[in-house]
Amino acid sequence: GSLQYGYSLGVINAPQKVIEQHYGRSLGVLPEEPLLLSENGTGTEKQEVHPSVVMYWSLSVSIFSIGGVVSSFLVGFVGDLRGRVKGMLMVNVLAVIAGLLMVMAKMWKPHVMVIAGRCVMGFYCGLSSGLVPMYIGEIAPMAYRGSLGTLHQLAIVSGILLSQVLGLEFLLGNDYYWPLLLGLSGAPAVLQSLLLPLCPESPRYLYIKRGMVEEAKNSLRRLKGEYDPSADLEEMRREKEEVEKEAQVSIAVLVRSSLYRQQLFVALMMHLSQQLSGINAIFYYSTAIFERAGVTQPVYATIGVGVLNTVFTMVSVRKDTHTHAHAHRQTNTCTHRLTICRSVMQTVTLKMFYSWMSYVSMSAIFLFVCFFEIGPGPIPWFIVAELFSQGPRPAAIALAGCTNWTSNFIIGMTFPYIEALCGSYVFILFAVLLFGFTVFTYLRVPETKGKTFEEIAAVKTGTETGTGTGTSTELEQLKSDSQA
Ligand code: GLC
Repeated sequence: GSLQYGYSLGVINAPQKVIEQHYGRSLGVLPEEPLLLSENGTGTEKQEVHPSVVMYWSLSVSIFSIGGVVSSFLVGFVGDLRGRVKGMLMVNVLAVIAGLLMVMAKMWKPHVMVIAGRCVMGFYCGLSSGLVPMYIGEIAPMAYRGSLGTLHQLAIVSGILLSQVLGLEFLLGNDYYWPLLLGLSGAPAVLQSLLLPLCPESPRYLYIKRGMVEEAKNSLRRLKGEYDPSADLEEMRREKEEVEKEAQVSIAVLVRSSLYRQQLFVALMMHLSQQLSGINAIFYYSTAIFERAGVTQPVYATIGVGVLNTVFTMVSVRKDTHTHAHAHRQTNTCTHRLTICRSVMQTVTLKMFYSWMSYVSMSAIFLFVCFFEIGPGPIPWFIVAELFSQGPRPAAIALAGCTNWTSNFIIGMTFPYIEALCGSYVFILFAVLLFGFTVFTYLRVPETKGKTFEEIAAVKTGTETGTGTGTSTELEQLKSDSQA
């Protein structure tokens, strides 16, 4: 699920010029013969692109995030309907449909087929980017929650890298194979449909949501081997008791409830800081940024970004598995600071026109993705499942996902305009935002590493209450809210 998200995010970058030619021909604004591509594979740079082609292209890029914004609201519903595993299995149909629409793009009007395919794929990714972290968060043993949660991010970055490599002109990013390049985004869904039935359902879902004790025990044994599950069941029993006090928490109730306000605020801010760090300005526009900085092989520099991104996510997985010295909050604050330095460095290098500056500029971007993957990249995806107990968890994941997708969409759409307005100072803007998020993370984000869900709920984002779930008046209020 996560691999498909990463692949779809990165795939649209490389073949832009080739696909625009097909759009132009099918819209009748370009001649039927394909135009020759330039040496670096980015094609007809000097040629004016027809406004209707620009419009259809922007829509092809952005409709993906719009699909994600809409479907992220449905994560809780799909996850609770028949369980996390069945939910992920069901939504695979969408990925296959999206892949087929794009593979067949040349058979009818390419712009319509691609836009339809990207929309369905975005809808699928909005669901999978919520269901996957939710499932992982629920099945992971406490000591490995961080590193297993980071595997979601590792799959995303691997997908981005795969799409960058396959998008090279001599592979699939050319006039003949681009429909296959786009359509391949649906292929992992087929593999996943075969493998998911082998995955045990989340024991927390079975026990807490459905009250199926025996099934939960079986699931725990399938996950952990033959062992005595009493301690895990006891922890879930206590959580179930809390959930029963809490009643059903829908998105509307979660937004209104003062009981969860702190956690919700933290969760949404973490997702905002991930996106407003400007990471996707790099993944959508890196080639153009490198070009402006005077880098001679911008396409390969972009692949370099993808490689470092993947390597440092692996470092992050390892770090979480093998050391306990860095807690999530510390890591996030520290890497935020480093990403600020990079934004300042980027601005400075784009302002100075010495030839060697292009290398400094490239290094600044490389450093940025490295720091990003140690903190702000993976942590927001899994911390939401940790911050909330079983009752409000699906609604919280849905809201956090929606925040992530919306801010992703905003950065993707506005970056070129803001850059045109402020020039290279655009990176200072990211630095200022990151400074604010660093202060916020330091002051307000609670430490979740090595704590049970119950203990995390008790911390209540920095203000230790000791009761775990708030006062009885608050609980009564929550119950009446959810009944209403
Ligand atoms: C995170 C972000 C995603 C970004 C990726 C880059 O997963 O959510 O938007 O593209 O990191 O590695």
